[in-house]
Amino acid sequence: MLCAGAGSAHRGASVSTAADTTGAADPADAAVPDAGPPATGGAVRVRGARRTFAADLAPVRALRGVDLDVEPGEFVALMGPSGCGKSTLLNVVAGLDAVDDGTVEVAGERIDGRDEDWLARFRRTHVGIVFQFFNLLDGVSALDNIVLPAMLHGLRRRAAESRARDLLDLLGLGDRTEQVPAVLSGGQRQRLAIARALANEPTLLLADEPTGALDTEGGLEVLELFRRLHAGGQTIVMVTHSPDVAAGASRVVRMRDGRIVPE
Ligand SMILES: Nc1ncnc2c1ncn2[C@@H]1O[C@H](COP(=O)(O)OP(=O)(O)OP(=O)(O)O)[C@@H](O)[C@H]1O
Ligand SMILES: [Mg+2]
Repeated sequence: MLCAGAGSAHRGASVSTAADTTGAADPADAAVPDAGPPATGGAVRVRGARRTFAADLAPVRALRGVDLDVEPGEFVALMGPSGCGKSTLLNVVAGLDAVDDGTVEVAGERIDGRDEDWLARFRRTHVGIVFQFFNLLDGVSALDNIVLPAMLHGLRRRAAESRARDLLDLLGLGDRTEQVPAVLSGGQRQRLAIARALANEPTLLLADEPTGALDTEGGLEVLELFRRLHAGGQTIVMVTHSPDVAAGASRVVRMRDGRIVPE
């Protein structure tokens, strides 16, 4: 079911389905500051990213000039001490937070300086996000946890269901479609969250400590799934504190005090 596919430079691993949630984002929609060097074709290209948060005592400089490149098909583990800026960097790449300075390019498009509507469309088209605590809908079935967000994104119920069933099969949850998250194990819940993140065939799968809330077995389950997705061509950036989890990635990038540690 997984296919790396020709042209996977800008689309990740996919499940075959005719469904498509959105049209392509239009880069001409919003003014972007001076584009600088032309797009490289990389999956992620961050240059000189700075992000400072206001705080009571003194401003917190979460990103202090970050450069990051991720090539299509790479599986990058982002590591570093608590508070060093990992989640901030992930959010910036996801288009959930904006840099104060610097440039952010994803799938060949500049995303810094865009407005909220553009970013929402960009995320729908290009980004799948997995969080530490799953963020699932408690009262509805595994199937509807994927179908409902997909419908919010404009997919018809039938297409959304067909894709959701494919994804649940792919992620080993094919016999759990009608169960609610509460009766699933932690590893199964996180796999469901990953299925939901893959519903839009994202160019880039971003995960912030996806095994952080799981026991060893659940963590291994989820790591194995990421490895399979990577083998199928999916580009992944995953924040983790676990050296065992990071060992499953194709490259480890370390951060400290808002900067990438040189290799
Ligand atoms: N919205 C916010 N408002 C104020 N400060 C913030 C905000 N988000 C992050 N910070 C601060 O920015 C710094 C970096 O935070 P970030 O969440 O990126 O760290 P992290 O590396 O993900 O840490 P952890 O491993 O604990 O998750 C921290 O000092 C944090 O307190
Ligand atoms: Mg974090």
